[in-house]
Order: sequence, then structure tokens, then C-alpha cells
Amino acid sequence: AYSSEGGAEKKRVQSPFEKVTIFGSGLMGSGIAQVSATYNHSVKLVDLNETALEKSQKYIMSSLKRVAKKKFPESTSDQVKFCEGVISKIQFTTKAEEAASDADLVLEAIVENVEIKRKLVATVDAVAPNSVVFATNTSSLKVGDIFANISEARRPNVGGLHFFNPVPQMKLLEVVKADTTSQETFDKMFNYGLSIGKVCVSCKDTPGFIVNRLLVPYMLEAMRMVERGDATAKDIDSSMKYGAGYPMGPFELADYVGLDTSYFISNGWYTNSELKGNDLVKPPKNLKDLVDAGRFGTKSGAGFYDYTKK
Ligand code: NAI
Repeated sequence: AYSSEGGAEKKRVQSPFEKVTIFGSGLMGSGIAQVSATYNHSVKLVDLNETALEKSQKYIMSSLKRVAKKKFPESTSDQVKFCEGVISKIQFTTKAEEAASDADLVLEAIVENVEIKRKLVATVDAVAPNSVVFATNTSSLKVGDIFANISEARRPNVGGLHFFNPVPQMKLLEVVKADTTSQETFDKMFNYGLSIGKVCVSCKDTPGFIVNRLLVPYMLEAMRMVERGDATAKDIDSSMKYGAGYPMGPFELADYVGLDTSYFISNGWYTNSELKGNDLVKPPKNLKDLVDAGRFGTKSGAGFYDYTKK
């Protein structure tokens, strides 16, 4: 027995799920599939086309190889065995209905767009077993909005499972109790998180849950500090690393997350969430200007910093 009250828990328990179907084989879906399979779930990973699935398979394999090298530094045959054992538990497929109709947990990690997510919810709603737990990995949308049109009987069975990038390395899992989520569903999601080795925390369905609700306004305030001319990005990054002990400064972090994503989140919250009009999440002009100039951060070669020259 465990208690989900009183803070983060890191305790291995038996997973309440055997079959996990994940929609979206991008950055997050691939990572979630990898850890779920590593901890013995039978996984189906769904995407729109074979190209996406092939890319995901390669991505997971190279991530598994890194894990295997650390786990079995002495034996390449054990490394190969480990990687093949895990990857064999993941079925890569484009057949959405079939994958959803045979699952204990369905987790969606597709594009961050409420209309597209709602379409997927309708697809799953039509075919999934009645008992399925249906969770979203959304970062910035309201869990309740994504599931707004799901059939009445399924409302207690939905919630949020918010992972962090890169999923195999980042220990935290925010388990989100939406307005309709039952205690039973919440407990299952929480225990699934523990079963895959995550530190689980409980939170409500509010913008940014815990981590991003604190991190996003912090990054935006750092940008405003530069706009006011109070300090440079480099000096702010040095300050937070060497004075506050953060592993990355706010500008390094923003560039890593992606400035397009940071802008999308803050603009979404500022214009359409319970934080609407709140200056804490208002997108700063310097952020918008960089995004308009195609400077998205590390992935595009430049953001607040230039990554093209060494
Ligand atoms: P991504 O763009 O890497 O992957 C999304 C994948 O979903 C693509 O492969 C796309 O082809 C696929 N897809 C789109 N519509 C689909 C559908 N109807 N059925 C099946 N597959 C479909 O995106 P990423 O970064 O993995 O994000 C996915 C979700 O996870 C988003 O909701 C995002 O907010 C959330 N998230 C992202 C984090 C990050 O650091 N990137 C962190 C935590 C959550």
C-alpha cells in the first residue's frame, strides 16, 4: 500500500496495466514507449505513417544502446540482449483503432493542438474497452478540454500523465487529477508511474501543472530583465547556475525547450486559459521577435544564443 498524499513518492510497485497504447511516436511518445517497455509493459506505439515510426524506432534503439552500455559495461552480448528484449515489447503501428481496442492504458502524445487531440479522443472513445484509462501528456492545454466531448461513462477514467524530456532520464512524472478523474483512475496512473521508476507527484488540472507553472513565468521574467536592460542573458544564466545552483540558466533552458514552444505556451495561456491577461505569462517582445526571425533555439541553430559558431 502507498499514499499519494504528502509529496513525491518513489517506490516501485506492480503496474496496474499490462497493455499500453501510445499515440504519437515523436520525442515524447518514443521516450514513454521506451520506459514502458523497459518496465515490462506490452506497448503499441501509433503514428500517422511509417516514416515517423521508423524514425522513432531508430531513436529508441540509440537511446536503449546508451542505457545498455551503462547497465552492462562489460558485456556487449548482454547489451544486445537488453536492447532487443525491450524493443521486442514495442509494436510500431499505424492502425489506430486496432491499437486502441486492445489496451489497458491509452496515452496520447500527439501534436499540441486541442482540435487534433479531440479528434483522436473521439476515435479512441469509439473503440477502446470500457475499462481503459485514457491519459494525455499535454504540456499546456487543459486536460479537461481535451476530453470535453468523451462519452459520459468514460469521464472518470481520464486524466493527465505529464512526462519530461528526455523521458528515460527525467525522473519526474506529474499525475494530473482533472475535474472528472476518479480516485481509482488517479491511483492507477500514479502506480503505473511508480512501476516505471518515476518520482510521481499529484497535481490539479491548472495551466502548467507544477513545473511549468513555475518555470515559464521565471523564463519570461528573465527575458523581460534583458528587455529592461538590467542584465545580459549570459550574466543572468551565470547567476542562476552559480548563485542559485540551477543546472541551466533560463536562456539556455528556453533555447533547449525551443523558443517557438515557449512562445506558443505563454501566448496560449495569456490569451486563452485561466491565466488570461495575467502579466506573469505575457509573451515578451524579444521572445516574439526571435520566433518571427526563425530563431527557435538549439534545434534551429540559434535562439538567444548562436549555436553555429563554437
Ligand atoms: P512531436 O512533434 O515530436 O511528436 C508528435 C507526433 O505525433 C508526430 O510524430 C506526429 O506525426 C504524431 N501525430 C500527430 N497526430 C497524430 C495522430 N492523430 N495519431 C497518431 N500520431 C499523431 O511532439 P512531442 O514533443 O513529442 O510532444 C507531444 C506531446 O507531448 C504534446 O502534447 C506536448 O505538449 C507534450 N509534451 C512535450 C514535451 C517536450 O519537451 N517536447 C514535454 C512534455 C509534454
